[in-house]
Amino acid sequence: DKGNYRHFMQKEIYEQPEVLSHTLGAFVDFTTGRTRLPKDQAVDFSKVRRIALSACGTGFYAALVGRYYFERYARIPCDLDVASEFRYRESPLADVDLALFVSQSGETADTLASLRYAKGEGLETAAIVNVEESTIAREADHVFPTLAGPEIGVASTKAFTCQLMALAALAIKAGVDRGVIAPERETELTRILAEAPRLANEAIRLEGAIEALSRRMATKKHALFLGRGFSYPLALEGALKLKEISYIHAEGYAAGELKHGPIALIDETMPVVVIAPHDRSFEKTASNVQEVAARGGEIVLFTDAKGAASGIVDGAELIVLPDMPEILTPIVYAIPLQLLAYHTAIQMGTDVDQPRNLAKSVTVE
Ligand code: M6R
Repeated sequence: DKGNYRHFMQKEIYEQPEVLSHTLGAFVDFTTGRTRLPKDQAVDFSKVRRIALSACGTGFYAALVGRYYFERYARIPCDLDVASEFRYRESPLADVDLALFVSQSGETADTLASLRYAKGEGLETAAIVNVEESTIAREADHVFPTLAGPEIGVASTKAFTCQLMALAALAIKAGVDRGVIAPERETELTRILAEAPRLANEAIRLEGAIEALSRRMATKKHALFLGRGFSYPLALEGALKLKEISYIHAEGYAAGELKHGPIALIDETMPVVVIAPHDRSFEKTASNVQEVAARGGEIVLFTDAKGAASGIVDGAELIVLPDMPEILTPIVYAIPLQLLAYHTAIQMGTDVDQPRNLAKSVTVE
C-alpha cells in the first residue's frame, strides 16, 4: 500500500529515518553505547586478516562504502568484486578470512553463486540481507539483517541506506574487536550513527529544491556524477539511480579520474553532479570542479554550509545539506540523489516503480 505517496519509491525514500533507526538498533545497545552483533552471532573480527566483499548493483555500491568503512575504522583490508566476477575470477583469496555479501532480496543469482563459491573454498561467510527468509540468509554462516522492511520499488533506496548503516556499525564493531577503536571512541561513533535519522529527515526536506533541479535535469541526455573518498560510491549510486528510472545516460566517476578521459565530454550541455561534503577530500574535489567550470560544464554541487561558503565555483547550483561527521555522509547524501532520480523520472513520465527491462530481483544469471 502506497498510502498517501505517489509511488512506492517515494514512500520508501520517506521511510528512511525510521528504518535507519531500526537497523541501527540491531547493531548497537543504546543503554551502553556499545556495538553488538545481531542475535549474538559470533564473528571475531580480531582474527580476520582480510574481507572479500561482493554484491550486485546498488548492493555493490554499498559494499564499496563498506570497504572504505572497514579499512578506515577497523584497518581491515578488503577485496571487492561484483558478484558476477567474483564467482568466476578464481581469486587465490590469500589471507581472506571472511566473505561478506550484500543483498536486499537475498535471492540474486550471482550473489548466491558467489556465496556458494566462497563456502566451497572453505571461507567463513556472512551476508547483509533485507529479506530474512531468503536463500542467501539461509545459506550464509552469519546473517546481519537490514531492517528496512519490504522494498517494492525496483530502484533500491531504503535498503541501500540501511546496508550502509549495517556496514558502518559492523566496521566499528570490527575496530573494537581489533583494538583499533577504544571504548570511548566506540560510544562517540555510535552516538554519531544515532544522528542519522534526524539528518535523513533534514535531507528529505530538500525535496522542493531538488524537484526544481530535476526540471533542468529532465532536459538532458547525459549526466556525470563525481565524488571522492566516501562520496565516490555515491557518485556511482547516484548515476545508477538516475539511469534506472529516468533512462538518462549517467556515469559516475571518482573525481580524480576526470582528467583521465571523462573531461573530454564536458561542454555547456553537460550537467555534472558533484557530491562533496566538506570532508578531507573536499579541496581536491573542489579543484576538479573548477576544471569542469572552466570548460563550461553545468555544475550541481551537493555540499554543506562550509563547502558552499568556500565559493569554489560561482554559478554552481548548490544543494546544501547539514554538517555531519564523515561516517554519516554516504548515508545522508544518498537521499538527495534518490530524490533527484525520482523527480527527474517523474518529469520524464517514466514508470518509476517498474522501470522498463528491470526486475526487482535478478534470479537468473
Ligand atoms: O536484491 P539485491 O540487493 O541482491 O539486488 C542487487 C541489484 O539487482 C539491485 O541493487 C539493483 O541494482 C537495483 N535495481 C538498484 O536500484
